[in-house]
Amino acid sequence: MAAGLIGIGRYVPENIVTNADLEKIMDTSDEWIRTRTGIEERRIAGDDENTSDLAFKAAEAAIKDAGITADQIGLILVNTVTPDQPFPTVACMIQERLGATKAAAMDQSAACAGYMYGLVTAKHFVEAGTYDYVLVVGAEKLSKITDWTDRNTAVLFGDGACAAVVGKVSEGRGILAYELGADGSGGKFLYQDEHDHIAMNGREVFKFAVRQMGESAMNVIEKAGYQKEDVDFLIPHQANIRIIDAARKRLDLPEDKVAAVISKYGNTSAASIGNAMVECVENGKIKDDDLIVLVGFGGGLTWGAIALRY
Ligand code: ACO
Repeated sequence: MAAGLIGIGRYVPENIVTNADLEKIMDTSDEWIRTRTGIEERRIAGDDENTSDLAFKAAEAAIKDAGITADQIGLILVNTVTPDQPFPTVACMIQERLGATKAAAMDQSAACAGYMYGLVTAKHFVEAGTYDYVLVVGAEKLSKITDWTDRNTAVLFGDGACAAVVGKVSEGRGILAYELGADGSGGKFLYQDEHDHIAMNGREVFKFAVRQMGESAMNVIEKAGYQKEDVDFLIPHQANIRIIDAARKRLDLPEDKVAAVISKYGNTSAASIGNAMVECVENGKIKDDDLIVLVGFGGGLTWGAIALRY
């Protein structure tokens, strides 16, 4: 039995904050942000929207796309580093709002690689026959842990959510291969500090990301029994356009075969890969039956990659 993404969805807050808006509140420039990161604007949630609100809306969209009802879901996994509070979990909060009365629910945390961790966990539960449908959500309100006086980090992040219903698919489709990894010795390069803000050594994270994204992408392609020439589309974590480009070049892919939506959303951590995927399905860049590689990295340090026949 194989498991795959049978429905996907996303939600981003309406409020757009441009680089020009940031120029007004900190010593930065649109030119610096664009050329160093590729980001032009990001979505920032209002005071009346928390992570669970973003998660709920993305989950609703994925359930609708899957054509199932919430009470068919056996497990809800929400990946976030910005839960509304440590408990009750965001997963429990949306379980109630969705009416997913038969679902177990828990939050997972693997920072920006979280969506990869969630999808892989879901795959195993579905393939084991434990649950018919697992709802995987990546949701972040990073703006609440952003230090808006620190230009090194504040310009990078945005808020948003993505979701997928993982269920049974025919053999040869769905999640074909994956790799998950962690290196706790790199935790000092990206963490939440004593003021609850994101703290980061950008250069170290950059070096790690460039190396790891390329390696993990190549590993899952090989594990799935393919070569890089077979890949139709790459969806890398949206942290920096230069990191995205490095991963693309490692796979020898042209620019139109890579998801690059960072200019519109910035880095939305666990929501980033799923949000990019929905956008590329909606605009027709990802087609039915495509061989897709998803690859992410994040604080922990963590990483994860998936080869998927959509
Ligand atoms: N505006 C203007 N100048 C800035 C800004 C800014 N927003 N931010 C930094 N600078 C300055 C720095 O102070 C530095 O000035 P100095 O040379 O006088 O000291 C200069 O720009 C260059 O800084 P660098 O750090 O060398 O810039 P770099 O080219 O490395 O880009 C960046 C920095 C964008 C952070 C890059 O290192 C990066 O993207 N790293 C990866 C970060 C990442 O992916 N983080 C998320 C991980 S995922 C997760 O789990 C959340």
